[in-house]
Amino acid sequence: MGKMERFSFVALVAGILFFLFADFISWALPMFVMKDIPKKSVADLAAEAISKNTSAWSDFNKLYRYYPEQFKKFCEYEDMYSGSGKIEEAECKPNEKTFAKALKVGHRWYVAEGCWNCHSQMVRPVSNETLRFGIPGVSNTVSYPSEFNNELQAPVLWGTKRVGQDLIREAAVHNVGWHVAHLYNPQSTSPGSVMPPYPWYFEKDSKGNIVPNARGLALLTYIMWLGSWEVKPPESFRMEAKQ
Ligand code: HEC
Repeated sequence: MGKMERFSFVALVAGILFFLFADFISWALPMFVMKDIPKKSVADLAAEAISKNTSAWSDFNKLYRYYPEQFKKFCEYEDMYSGSGKIEEAECKPNEKTFAKALKVGHRWYVAEGCWNCHSQMVRPVSNETLRFGIPGVSNTVSYPSEFNNELQAPVLWGTKRVGQDLIREAAVHNVGWHVAHLYNPQSTSPGSVMPPYPWYFEKDSKGNIVPNARGLALLTYIMWLGSWEVKPPESFRMEAKQ
């Protein structure tokens, strides 16, 4: 046997061992890390946002105040896709039940729409990502395991590509009005954006104004909730407040 042949044999065996090792690490390591972290349900997440009085909770209240007609429709809306049913009229206001429904429905449409094709949901400890995503100095944490151990991250929405920004620190970056205008037509707030418009999350209200529909309210709630457990900035931190 030549020298090269022996070397290639060793390389092959080493390659296979490294492959098996990497495979083992990629499922065993997360299992050990996540072992003691309780998995939160959507109801837990909603209750937490309310008890901490986060920006997501205040944004949800704003949607209720800005679009009362559509909020009613949102309560009546049955979403087969996320298994969410109607909410009685007496309970149709911002509370744990409606907030949990909005997160659940919004999350399902975020997944269905393929928003994750262009947006990641994980801030890595490299390349100054803490400065690039979120609000520098206010939300500057790298992603950590417990924020992913919940019903809305199964499967995880880390994503693989960033055509747009990472969204896991999106809470409180923009105000409600900006998000509404942006989702309807990204070019209106971000000239040159390659994000497609999403007019099917909107409808005309009784006065003829274009407003978010039932699913739209849910999707907006979900986006503005992302990262709200991590940031509680004053209103002045919203990008629009600085303009
Ligand atoms: C083709 C890629 C693409 C898709 C699909 C896409 N986006 Fe975007 N998104 C972008 C780009 C690029 C930007 C940055 C420019 C802008 O503001 O529009 C952006 C920006 C955003 C922002 C503002 C982020 C910030 O902090 O300023 C939000 C929120 C957002 N997208 C949500 C969504 C949602 C929700 C969906 C799915 C309904 C979606 N995007 C689908 C490309 C995409």
